[in-house]
Amino acid sequence: MKILVLGSGAREHAIILALRAEQAEHEIFVSPGNAGIAQDATPVSVDPLDGAAVTSFANEHAINLVVVGPEAPLVAGVADALRAHGVPVFGPGKAAAQLEGSKAFAKRVMDAAGVPTGRAVRASTVADVEAAFDQLGAPYVVKADGLAAGKGVIVTSDRAAALAHAEHFLPAGPVLVEEFLTGPEVSLFFLSDGDTVRALSPAQDFKRALDGDEGPNTGGMGAYSPLPWLAEQFGSEQAFVEEVTRDVALPVIRQLDAEGTPFIGLLYAGLILTPAGVRVIEFNARFGDPETQVVLPRLVTPLSELLFAAASGTLEDQPEPVFRDDVAITVVLASEGYPEAPQTGRPIEGLADAAAVEGVHVAHAATASPDAPGGSLVASGGRVLSVVALASDFRTARERAYDAIGRIRLDGSHHRSDIAARVAE
Ligand code: AMP
Ligand code: GLY
Repeated sequence: MKILVLGSGAREHAIILALRAEQAEHEIFVSPGNAGIAQDATPVSVDPLDGAAVTSFANEHAINLVVVGPEAPLVAGVADALRAHGVPVFGPGKAAAQLEGSKAFAKRVMDAAGVPTGRAVRASTVADVEAAFDQLGAPYVVKADGLAAGKGVIVTSDRAAALAHAEHFLPAGPVLVEEFLTGPEVSLFFLSDGDTVRALSPAQDFKRALDGDEGPNTGGMGAYSPLPWLAEQFGSEQAFVEEVTRDVALPVIRQLDAEGTPFIGLLYAGLILTPAGVRVIEFNARFGDPETQVVLPRLVTPLSELLFAAASGTLEDQPEPVFRDDVAITVVLASEGYPEAPQTGRPIEGLADAAAVEGVHVAHAATASPDAPGGSLVASGGRVLSVVALASDFRTARERAYDAIGRIRLDGSHHRSDIAARVAE
């Protein structure tokens, strides 16, 4: 197949590596990609946010499938443009992508579909926010309505800090004040063709910047999959997946279909397992980053078949995706100052040494070519690399991942040291 992947992060690298692992001689193009991705796909210069440009490229190059990685092109309507011209695309149109693009839209759809989620109040003024704080109590959860790259949410018992967060986002529109939910979090991905869904294997993300879940929220500092502890609570991982499929994914997909805005692409259910049951904390309209880096290396079913079936409305004919028993963990290497003010442009050394560790590979997130030929790659953003390790057990996977990340040198960089620590015990 000729496949065009849009995006530039470790998630897109993981998607491309999974397509490569099929040994199916796919021809893979990427826009924009990064220095690491460029070793596994052909970079092309087409603006990923420009639907007309992406469509012309797809037509000129007889692309069989476009895979949209990040949310921005979805919210910009790139999938609509492609679909209008008959190009199979994995990614929802602008309207359905509001499930991620607008927290208020997501709440409305969940209410209409009867999907369990935290109580929330929409607040347009500081006085509304204060009233919602009084009503819902501490700890306070405030969410910006639009896309904020994982930085729009604050969860804190510090009322002044919660209010300051709300005041920062209020000029751009109403914020949501949400009931505080407590319990372990699970990221569960569903492929959807607008009508039928297929679940992937559950993963857990580590959202806070520092060990022990301290520090600010980030895009995600690490992840692991599968989640063996689900079996204790639900009897089996399969039982958990079936419950979420029935109570969350299918109702939402059917609701969007009934509204005339079918969701074709990846429905990311961000879940919290509260003592009162499973609750949705957020939906995303694309693969999660860094969870994709641990889910896709475990996928045995050819990814291209699943994505193409979703894009072309034939998911019903696809068997349930199969995953290998090996576990996977990923640790994200971040630039100094991430998430507030990442320092970029610094050289990265030791990548080959890291990849030489058994079971390890590195997915590139923000790497750029060296200024001078023969030089090292340089870091070009906050989350720089995802070091991924597979093994038959979590203890070994952790040893491998941390051995590998210890071989990488990037001045001032940081990473969490407790990814999957508890599950490895
Ligand atoms: P979101 O962007 O909605 O996923 O929020 C980012 C993170 O904030 C989530 O992964 C949770 O850890 C936390 N969070 C979001 N909503 C709540 C909530 N209602 N109660 C507790 N924690 C939350
Ligand atoms: N890892 C969280 C996300 O992709 O939104």
